[in-house]
Amino acid sequence: MALVTSAEMFKKAYEGGYAIGAFNVNNMEIVQGITEACKEEKAPVILQVSKGARAYANHTYLVKLVEAAIIECPEIPVVLHLDHGPDFETCKSCIDGGFTSVMIDGSSHSFKDNIELTKKVVEYAHAHGVVVEGELGTLAGIEDEVVVSAEDSSYTRPEEVEEFVAKTGVDSLAIAIGTSHGAYKFKPGTKPQLRFDILEDISKRLPGFPIVLHGSSSVPQNYVQMINENGGQMPGAIGVPEEQLRQAASLAVCKINIDSDLRLAMTGTVRKFFNDNPAKFDPREYLKPARANIKELVRHKLINVLGCNGKA
Ligand code: G3H
Ligand code: 13P
Ligand code: ZN
Repeated sequence: MALVTSAEMFKKAYEGGYAIGAFNVNNMEIVQGITEACKEEKAPVILQVSKGARAYANHTYLVKLVEAAIIECPEIPVVLHLDHGPDFETCKSCIDGGFTSVMIDGSSHSFKDNIELTKKVVEYAHAHGVVVEGELGTLAGIEDEVVVSAEDSSYTRPEEVEEFVAKTGVDSLAIAIGTSHGAYKFKPGTKPQLRFDILEDISKRLPGFPIVLHGSSSVPQNYVQMINENGGQMPGAIGVPEEQLRQAASLAVCKINIDSDLRLAMTGTVRKFFNDNPAKFDPREYLKPARANIKELVRHKLINVLGCNGKA
């Protein structure tokens, strides 16, 4: 199957009470690990590319890696999505350059400016057959080198969502209900809890409309431990409990963003490999188990968190 937009995927996910996994891709091994798991589990998938990924790997390399995955996995629908598009120009460049979906992240702007910017991107994207994700509310954590402290983060205000969606024409909406970017989402000793009351209020105001959750890594403790036991220092890394993500997927949440978990699997595996094999230096030898562990982690997410296995 060729690249698709997320329109049909989200419609089916909403009706079926599951979510599509949106995994960040930065290199070949990550693309392969994700798509091999999705192919084997017959799961639709969103491969997303951040501004930082484009700066690191180059737009063309990333598009061609995704095209290669589509040739290798013809059975599954794949969306190529821009994650956290910071401005109109970046969105336009991705729309012109073969993406089927873009996010315009106007969440740091005022409500009025966010609407104006998002509307401009939607008009250009829709004229080119591309769908758009907008954002209301501010997540804490690190993204594209911008750090948002917990004090500066803010939950999405349900009373704003109808006006935002109506005035911008966005196809999906990212909301802030307590998730955050990176590996340190909750303070050790506190009870992680997403604000399902806000999600329910928003979904009542926007019936049938696809909601997106960013910052939804669960920070698997086996990989945190593997990192810490092999020279790393990540004390107190805590993620979103998987049962809460599963609950969100059964409600209006149709897209769940996962990046940090892939990074932890890759880093833990490579650190352990070097600790166990100090004389080895062939990148294929340490990237192979890293890719295999990404694949198994994605398989676990598809089956146990997203519920999108068998939906391709
Ligand atoms: O939300 C941000 C994603 O995890 C992408 O991170 O900007 O470091 O590529 P990045
Ligand atoms: P995590 O840092 O929780 O993986 O979130 C990723 C994300 O939201 C990408 O946009
Ligand atoms: Zn994000």
